[in-house]
Amino acid sequence: MKPAPKLPAAYHLIALDSVGSTNDEAKRLAALGEAEAPDGTLVWAKQQTVGRGRRGREWSSPPGNLYTSLILRPNVPMARMPELSFVAALAVYDALGSLSGPGHQVRLKWPNDILLDEKKVAGLLLETESAGGACDWVVLGMGLNIGWHPEDTPYPATSLRFEGWSTSVDEALEAYAKSFLGWSERWLAEGFEPVRKNWLLRCKGQGEAIEVRLGAETLNGTFTDLDSYGALVLDCEGEVRHITAGDVFFLPPEGV
Ligand code: BTN
Repeated sequence: MKPAPKLPAAYHLIALDSVGSTNDEAKRLAALGEAEAPDGTLVWAKQQTVGRGRRGREWSSPPGNLYTSLILRPNVPMARMPELSFVAALAVYDALGSLSGPGHQVRLKWPNDILLDEKKVAGLLLETESAGGACDWVVLGMGLNIGWHPEDTPYPATSLRFEGWSTSVDEALEAYAKSFLGWSERWLAEGFEPVRKNWLLRCKGQGEAIEVRLGAETLNGTFTDLDSYGALVLDCEGEVRHITAGDVFFLPPEGV
């Protein structure tokens, strides 16, 4: 039998062959309480039958990709929980850096996407539960396309194998778990600012013209900054908007 992936001792791995959604399973476990699902419980499934993406979208989840949901119980106010998806984005970025050969570009795309060579390779889905203003638990879902990617997405997608990598699911899980631990310890010790700065150093499109699709509205402007709450700062011809939810599309430079 294949040995289980080697994770740092801070994690409690729950490995499943198949599940509806690892986020739903992690939420179910988290609600049972800390004794059942302590901080660091990591639900990992080889496939999902009803994987979920942001904004109610489907996340197709055949075998061969990485699907994880991490239960966290940080002693941090609820309002700061969205910061954790930027922590996780940095962890995926570093994990990919440790696994890749030369010649590939990894970039972070606001709010929760990881791009490989300009296409989406991974996404994050953060879900929370609060008790009286304090955070009771957070479930941090992460899907990484390793052997397969969808073809018909509004933003083009890719997978590690399609880009020529031979990374296994187990290797990717080990690398992500290790780098997440490093970034989350820094976040707990130093707050959001180093995360914000490092995210900006690795993101795509800062200082450039972008389109942000909100529910019923589409905004065009210059992506100038990430604010101290993780909102995207968009300069729309002098009117500065702080956007907390939406889908970003990059525009070709003028004249191209
Ligand atoms: C997105 O980019 O829309 C977020 C995708 C998040 C997908 C992961 S896969 C593991 C976890 N379980 C889910 O149902 N969704 C997340």
